[in-house]
Amino acid sequence: MHLDPVAYVEGRLRVLDQRALPNQQIWLDLSTWQQAAEAIETMAVRGAPLIGVAAAYALAMAHKTGEINEAARALERTRPTAVNLFHAIRRVENAPDPLAEAHAIKNEEIAANQAIGNFGASLLAKPSTIITICSTGSLATPGIGTALGIIKTAFQKNLLKEAILLETRPRLQGLKLNAWELSQENIPFRVIADGAAAAFMSAHSVDMVAAGADRIAANGDTANKIGTLMLAIVSDTFKIPFVIAAPTSTIDSKIPSGEQIPIEQRAASEIVEIAQTRIAPENVRVWNPAFDVTPARLISHIVTERGVFAPPYDLGAIRSSAEK
Ligand code: MRU
Repeated sequence: MHLDPVAYVEGRLRVLDQRALPNQQIWLDLSTWQQAAEAIETMAVRGAPLIGVAAAYALAMAHKTGEINEAARALERTRPTAVNLFHAIRRVENAPDPLAEAHAIKNEEIAANQAIGNFGASLLAKPSTIITICSTGSLATPGIGTALGIIKTAFQKNLLKEAILLETRPRLQGLKLNAWELSQENIPFRVIADGAAAAFMSAHSVDMVAAGADRIAANGDTANKIGTLMLAIVSDTFKIPFVIAAPTSTIDSKIPSGEQIPIEQRAASEIVEIAQTRIAPENVRVWNPAFDVTPARLISHIVTERGVFAPPYDLGAIRSSAEK
């Protein structure tokens, strides 16, 4: 049984505060859509599919107080890159029963994760070493996860030798969240510094690099956590398959390429501080995008719940038919 980090219970949203993990497990009890929006904006809830689910429930709460339009516009301003947020808002806004639609979105994501795990594991021929970045498991989705879902499924099928987690500076989602989740499930892994990825590939046999996604353009260009592009370039150099794992709710069929993906810029404090302690000199200038865009030509496969896609990618029709 996987975690349930965003659960709607008797009119309230029960949310695992990911900012406190792994040292503390704090559950937030949210009773208004404004609190839910704040949880998304402040990254208590994070990961593209989970952000979509939380936003869907926030809108269902807003519907009860007659504030659905206001809430939808406010939720759109919380995080700009993960397209799941916008798809979930559209769906719930247009649904006759917003709460039923929110439940449907969550259930579809859980099922999508299972399928992604199976399709992704089918790409492995033997017990494998898989490198991954950021948080893509049950803390980033409502199910087993996307890239981490492939790793978990591979483990169950005896197709995993070891997972290698990039620590994922600056917010350390790999070190804190993926590592916590794999520890809970006794899945073998090691953590490396982001800058050690090339050295690891040079020194070891690596079978797959798998990453999640926050938005995939119709041509396959993919926005994901900062550092993913570097990992894709290094994978290409070492001829290691580089796989993007994401539900079709992460495909933005309306944009032809990654150039149109809005990239969230985040506070300098994420770079100059570690655990709320300043470690850089004063007046250091910082560039801190939360995501980067990996061009489709570096992506060997895109694994969705509808199957495994290979280049050249033409994902334009996929989302449009999935969108209700
Ligand atoms: O900024 P975050 O923590 O919300 O970023 C999360 C990621 O980039 C994930 O890798 C991505 O959303 C894929 S979620 C399965």
